[in-house]
Amino acid sequence: MNEKRLLSTTKLEDSPVVANCTMNRERDLRGSNGYEVEVGFDPLEWLQWRLARQSTVRWLDLCCGSGKALIQAAVACENIGVGSVRITGVDLVGMFLPNKPTDLQLIQCSVFDYQPTEKFDLITCVHGLHYLGDKLKAIRLAASSLVSDGRFVANLDAANFCLAEAGKGQRRIVRFLREQGFEYLPAKHLLKLTGHREFEIPFKFCGADDSAGPNYTKQPVVTSYYE
Ligand SMILES: C[S@@+](CC[C@H](N)C(=O)[O-])C[C@H]1O[C@@H](n2cnc3c(N)ncnc32)[C@H](O)[C@@H]1O
Repeated sequence: MNEKRLLSTTKLEDSPVVANCTMNRERDLRGSNGYEVEVGFDPLEWLQWRLARQSTVRWLDLCCGSGKALIQAAVACENIGVGSVRITGVDLVGMFLPNKPTDLQLIQCSVFDYQPTEKFDLITCVHGLHYLGDKLKAIRLAASSLVSDGRFVANLDAANFCLAEAGKGQRRIVRFLREQGFEYLPAKHLLKLTGHREFEIPFKFCGADDSAGPNYTKQPVVTSYYE
């Protein structure tokens, strides 16, 4: 399997597939090019529903791109003025749109360097996992950063996992995720989790292949190799 040129997390972050300026970083919150379509529910409506029982809710969006959807959500919350919706976006490339909402924080850094100091009600990763090397590490970070009944949802193509075990690699990794309580919907390419989880990853990350070509998104993506 190591005939492929596998890149470390740091090297991958310099790859043109990841630092590519033509990828879609400008999804809206709602509408046909929106987060709502990608994750299957309206994130802001869900957060506002939680405000009925708590005064502050927190949303973390990993690989947030330009932050457009988050800015739209934060502006909508300011206008409604009910409770507090704190929103954090993290992206490697700081191509953030100008923004002012006080309850919004857009942070330029790798998800692997981000160290959350609080737990979140909602964590999303909209078409971000496709570009990460150690996808399982990022998924674990999200799971451990949820509140006890929080929600995580991410677009994921299991075809972008490879395990050194002929023919069974992806299925073993998906089975492992399901054993931790994740739901993986192959037809929708969605990974979901409800509630905080801590777990060890029984696979060793060997590197990432940025020459994997397009996945179901039709964009060139990164396959993550484990053993
Ligand atoms: C297809 S874009 C999606 C952006 C946004 N979620 C949206 O839907 O508009 C993927 C994003 O992942 C970001 N990304 C790739 N590797 C990353 C990493 N290691 N840490 C943080 N962000 C990363 C890219 O910079 C890019 O903005």
